[in-house]
Amino acid sequence: MTRHAGSILVVDDDEIDREILEKRLSLHSFEVVEAVDGPEALGLVASRPFDLVLLDIMMPGMSGLEVLAEIRKTHTPLDLPVIVLIAGGEATDIVAALELGASDYIVKPPEFAVALARIRTQISAKRAEEWRLRARDELARSNRELEQFAYVASHDLQEPLRMVISYLQLLERRYAGQLDSSARDFIGFAVDGAARMQQLIRDLLEFSRVGTRQQPPVATDSGQLLDAALANLAVTVREKEAVVTRDRLPTIRVDPLQITQLFQNLIGNAIKFQKAGKPEVHVGVTERAREFEFAVRDNGIGIDPSHFDRVFAIFQRLHTRAEYPGTGMGLSICKKIVERHGGRIWVESEPGVGSCFRFTLPKAEPVEEESWLGEPAEGPTRGLY
Ligand SMILES: Nc1ncnc2c1ncn2[C@@H]1O[C@H](COP(=O)(O)OP(=O)(O)O)[C@@H](O)[C@H]1O
Ligand SMILES: [Mg+2]
Repeated sequence: MTRHAGSILVVDDDEIDREILEKRLSLHSFEVVEAVDGPEALGLVASRPFDLVLLDIMMPGMSGLEVLAEIRKTHTPLDLPVIVLIAGGEATDIVAALELGASDYIVKPPEFAVALARIRTQISAKRAEEWRLRARDELARSNRELEQFAYVASHDLQEPLRMVISYLQLLERRYAGQLDSSARDFIGFAVDGAARMQQLIRDLLEFSRVGTRQQPPVATDSGQLLDAALANLAVTVREKEAVVTRDRLPTIRVDPLQITQLFQNLIGNAIKFQKAGKPEVHVGVTERAREFEFAVRDNGIGIDPSHFDRVFAIFQRLHTRAEYPGTGMGLSICKKIVERHGGRIWVESEPGVGSCFRFTLPKAEPVEEESWLGEPAEGPTRGLY
């Protein structure tokens, strides 16, 4: 198999110009196909893939600019780079071509070394983009698979576990009189362990559902979402006599249930990870050009900087369950929710003084770059999710 440097469609009405390009490009291992006019070029572009089009602007009949406009209806500059050939390098022609989506231009008659460098640059950019898209699709596929795995595993583990727990409890109820105290202790430990496993599985299931149960974003008052989170935490807030204050909170475009859960996990932690004393939690917000940055600050035990990343990983905890209850899933769920919304989450903290969990949420769905295909980008498969 001969390896070629790329396939190039040369569109030029001038036979000699075509021939020269064909010869020289072939010497550099390009596969060259020639078209004598616009209609022939468009037919070729429609019928097979090329890595690049070299397009003469000045042609009788259909002009190069018209051909370019037609190509851009079906191919983005990264699908198919087009370098236009412009006689004398007329500024107005160059501008017109670039505005129509030309990837670059070469002044005719071409300085071949320069032309070659420009062609190679465009083809490398196209290859890099192809590679990036492949990697992105592959990553999305493998994430979907993992999510599916986590879902199926946690879902299917629930049933047998319920059975273990109920039979252990039955044993306890029916035969407690016939068992000695160590046997009763053992059953108690087994029930505890199984209940803990049940909680872990529930949290894992919840984690996997962040991806599958997401609702389309709606404009929502984030203050109301915070209220909802605090209502869910009402018992804890009362028991610990926590004081939660807030800035004026903005309207954001989000999945309301998920952001409520985010607030709830962060404030729940802020209240839980305390020494003696009343928890004080403040929810602040800073507006930036394209995003809001929220901060949930507490006066709790704090986190050593060496653990800043670890706390966001699945099942990672810095304390024993005897010190503070929990499964270590809360912050992983937070991270997944924030990232699904196109934001970032991180923590700042001084041990013994308090922690501040910060996260960003984009103000609106990311604006698609102006599409060369003319149509606006579609639906929920692009953009945020
Ligand atoms: N506000 C906080 N202050 C101090 N440590 C925290 C705080 N929030 C989280 N952490 C640490 O991060 C770990 C992971 O948090 P999380 O995922 O919510 O799990 P869980 O709350 O179940 O322990 C916690 O176990 C704790 O060690
Ligand atoms: Mg937690």
